[in-house]
Amino acid sequence: MHFGILHGPNLQWLGIREPEIYGSKTLLDLENEIRIAFPNHTFTFFQSNHEGELIDFLHENRTSVQAWVINPGGLAHSSVALADALRIMQGPAIEVHLSNVFQRESFRHSLITASSCIGCISGLGFAGYHFAIQTLEKNAHE
Ligand code: DQA
Repeated sequence: MHFGILHGPNLQWLGIREPEIYGSKTLLDLENEIRIAFPNHTFTFFQSNHEGELIDFLHENRTSVQAWVINPGGLAHSSVALADALRIMQGPAIEVHLSNVFQRESFRHSLITASSCIGCISGLGFAGYHFAIQTLEKNAHE
């Protein structure tokens, strides 16, 4: 299967950014981990700090990507446009947050983009991505 793994603003700083919240591993560590854990699948990774670039990437890969895992970063709490773009995709999406957003500031409790996803995983760190991929893989065969 071809998966798109999308990361929003500031997530290229994983490993350096607030390690007490997000851990000490980098985005590249995550990519390597996923490729090793799921050798039979194809992954396209994309990170951007710009809402429009994330939306363009979704549009460009609308039919070629069969399932999406998205961590929109702060855009999860604000972007109606990203939520709309996810609804145009042919394949399903699962939203992942490394931290448990519900244990944090109240402005993080509202998840706009998650409303366009089949599910949302929050607070499980990198394991959240693994569970999301396993679920999407299983869904595709049901
Ligand atoms: C995050 C949670 C968001 O609230 C925050 O803005 C991020 C990271 C997470 O992975 O826990 O950038 O999406």
